[in-house]
Amino acid sequence: MNNSLKFTLVASATLVTSLLPSFASEDLYKTKCLMCHQAGGVGIPNAFPPLAESEWVNGPAENLIRIQLRGLTGEITVKGKKYKSMMPPNVAMTDAEIASVLTYVRSNFGNKAGAVTADMVKALRDEVGKPMLTVKDLKDPEKAAAEEKKKEPAKEETKKEETKAEPKKEETKEKE
Ligand code: HEC
Repeated sequence: MNNSLKFTLVASATLVTSLLPSFASEDLYKTKCLMCHQAGGVGIPNAFPPLAESEWVNGPAENLIRIQLRGLTGEITVKGKKYKSMMPPNVAMTDAEIASVLTYVRSNFGNKAGAVTADMVKALRDEVGKPMLTVKDLKDPEKAAAEEKKKEPAKEETKKEETKAEPKKEETKEKE
């Protein structure tokens, strides 16, 4: 093999590898979620709920991780429509893969929610093997959002009174 061909091969392999993380999360979506939740995460009426602009997808990350690890059954309302079916758990995926596909779903299809890390998944690994989840096991995304809002004005008030407590609050915010 001549040197310039070798160089081209190495260069293109490097390029492919550098692009891999973004391809990988999309590929994971295609192989692990698309057959049910469809392209663009639009779902199928009365069968598979949408991931696009779903209040669950944009709600607490913990819910999404637990759904992957334990599956979900029973009735769930998504974007005002009821679904009553079953999603099997995805235990064969690694922590990093679950983090990657959930981050992909939370930042595509019109969703604007924060990234999910492998550590967040790892912290919930002991969920594996427990019975399938139903909605009542999940954190209500509306309540979670309302609680976030409630916290905000409270923080504002305390800010005015005691500026000293500020750095602490910033820390808590970052941890969330
Ligand atoms: C075999 C089909 C199937 C596959 C594969 C599947 N799901 Fe689901 N998913 C469902 C069904 C059905 C529900 C609703 C379950 C119910 O009715 O209780 C659901 C619910 C959900 C929900 C909560 C409701 C919503 O729409 O926001 C999320 C989030 C979710 N799935 C994400 C995923 C992700 C991410 C993947 C891929 C890693 C995936 N699902 C793979 C069938 C599937």
